[in-house]
Amino acid sequence: MAYGNLLVNFERRFGHGPSDTYFSPGRLNLLGEYTDFNGGYVMPLAINSGTYFAIRRNGTDNVNVFSEAVDAQIRISLHDVSHRPARGAWSDYVVGVLNDFANQGLSGEGLDIYVSNDLPLNSGLSSSASFTLGVAFLLNDAWGCGLDRLSLVHIARKVENDFVGVQCGIMDQFAIAMGKRDHCIYLHCHSLDYALLPMHMDGYEIVITDSKRHRELVNSSYNLRRQECRSALDALRKSQPIEYLCAATIGDVESSEALRALPAELKRARHVISENERVATAADALNRGDVTRFGELMYASHVSLRDDFEVSCRELDILVETAMNIPGVMGSRMTGAGFGGCTFALVATTAVPNYISTITSTYSALTPYEAGVIRSCAGDGVKRLGDPASACEPDVT
Ligand code: GLA
Repeated sequence: MAYGNLLVNFERRFGHGPSDTYFSPGRLNLLGEYTDFNGGYVMPLAINSGTYFAIRRNGTDNVNVFSEAVDAQIRISLHDVSHRPARGAWSDYVVGVLNDFANQGLSGEGLDIYVSNDLPLNSGLSSSASFTLGVAFLLNDAWGCGLDRLSLVHIARKVENDFVGVQCGIMDQFAIAMGKRDHCIYLHCHSLDYALLPMHMDGYEIVITDSKRHRELVNSSYNLRRQECRSALDALRKSQPIEYLCAATIGDVESSEALRALPAELKRARHVISENERVATAADALNRGDVTRFGELMYASHVSLRDDFEVSCRELDILVETAMNIPGVMGSRMTGAGFGGCTFALVATTAVPNYISTITSTYSALTPYEAGVIRSCAGDGVKRLGDPASACEPDVT
């Protein structure tokens, strides 16, 4: 993990050791894709790969942030942060958070911040939400602002929606803030009611495969899907008084004349509503430890995302179809927004070595890419790792 180097690298860059360290996880969504901004259910978990931060107060009015991933450092003056526009760069996530804090009258001393990752960036594991929420969490902690986790979730999402310009839902930020070791989160995105479900999957492992396929036009395609869902809702409302898309049933979709006149919107609605039902069924399967049923729902989700929501791509389909034919695999699907990025599979622990070698060799034979593999488990949400001067390495999982 990136922790040991983090302390040394902080000192090399800023000339003294850090005073605090933090970890903000990535998220894996087990089931419930594109249901969040439609008021439905999702089932994400925080993973034990993510973003590490080392910080120290610097006695100035500047926040200096170095990111290893982009090998660049930015300096943001706390005086003019509310006048800095978004620039389409990684610094937007930091400026957006500082901006929001400033608007709430929350501020403090300048900080030096070193950022390191063991999460592939832009691959459907929420690297940007991990970064944004990590920044919000550490500022809240370092400046003693006293915001609770849910407030930080709202800040991080607002930065994505209003500053960066991605109309994402609340799932990623929520999972990164509320995740718990060995649990997934069963969240209703309209009410924000949630339960932590124990991962009753003894003898099985989650294995993530990164397609390495660059996610093209992900932000604009994502925003387009969001608009199509909105149009589907408007069409359904002509015959049903529903507040959000996930409040409709498949029967409502099939009987809506207005929706039938909009073929793309009809498909989007069919995915969203069937996916929402799959999440509820999957929660029940997980509670019963029914891994077979859970796996079937994963495959069904992938087919629906591929054919009705149209956010998969050839590489993700190859990974899922290959997984399906490997012994010991119970289910597989793309995760996150799609258009490239990652899939994951639920694999019998004893079958994992064969799974990894078969999927990586088949994938490199059929595509120009080498798949990355992450063996993952459910870890805690964003947290302070503690005093870097203490001798023991923190437990991230
Ligand atoms: C991205 C967004 C989430 C969610 C997923 C799709 O990860 O940030 O809000 O919409 O895509 O399920």
